[in-house]
Amino acid sequence: MAADNPNAPTEETVLSVKHYTDRLFQFEITRPASFRFRTGEFVMIGLPKTEEQKRPLMRAYSIASPSWDDKLEFYSIKVEDGPLTSRLQKIVEGDTVLLSRKPVGTLVLDALLPGKRLWMFSTGTGIAPFASLIRDPETYERYEEVILVHGCREEGELTYGEDLVKDLINDPLVGEMVDGKLKHITTLTREDHPLTGRITTLIETEKLFEVAGTPILNPEQDRVMICGSIDMINDTKAIVETYGLNEGSNSQPAQFVVEKSFVG
Ligand code: A2P
Repeated sequence: MAADNPNAPTEETVLSVKHYTDRLFQFEITRPASFRFRTGEFVMIGLPKTEEQKRPLMRAYSIASPSWDDKLEFYSIKVEDGPLTSRLQKIVEGDTVLLSRKPVGTLVLDALLPGKRLWMFSTGTGIAPFASLIRDPETYERYEEVILVHGCREEGELTYGEDLVKDLINDPLVGEMVDGKLKHITTLTREDHPLTGRITTLIETEKLFEVAGTPILNPEQDRVMICGSIDMINDTKAIVETYGLNEGSNSQPAQFVVEKSFVG
């Protein structure tokens, strides 16, 4: 396939699969030597087509691994009747996954103007691009404070992010930078937890800033990245805008950027 079309996806091998809950799993695949991406970008992922399919079904996935890693990591939801994830959730080590050649995306450091504090607002698998960004030394070079906020329904859905942050302290590249600079704030909406409620509510009530020990959002100092479901993005974006922050892009950096996490 790749021989005929230089833009066709490459065939990669599954290196590991880890199931977190009955709705969430993480997997790693081989990374082609020529595959370059900017931390925070997404790429199209698919499975070899079935006999009934004319072409393989591809969907956008944020790359969760850091850009220096020789593997590519993804964090995915499982949807029972989802066109792709109903099959993808069954992959095992050694299987083939298709990877498009051109990563893209707006959750990149270059789409934001310099600032003091970087907020990452995520729900569910929306934490994936931030898993990449919090492992990138440049994130800590650019900001004095980095605050990862992760909102989920239940405790088990926080494990992926909690393990990641715990392991960062021992990371040879960013371990020392993270210490004292990175805050991880978790909130649940359907189970008891030290902090409960939707991220949107926590911003509106200013509870989030109390917990983080920061002033409220301010366009001079704060930069925001938002990743979650389409409703979460729209609602969070509308609130962030009331604080005077403007949406940025690759060509026009500003104070916040958004990206939809893949579902289906
Ligand atoms: P809730 O339990 O109140 O729906 P999901 O797994 O459905 O993507 O949800 C992940 C988390 O995002 C849940 O805690 C959910 O809260 C929350 N959430 C869902 N919709 C929104 C929204 N529009 N704004 C903020 N948080 C949301």
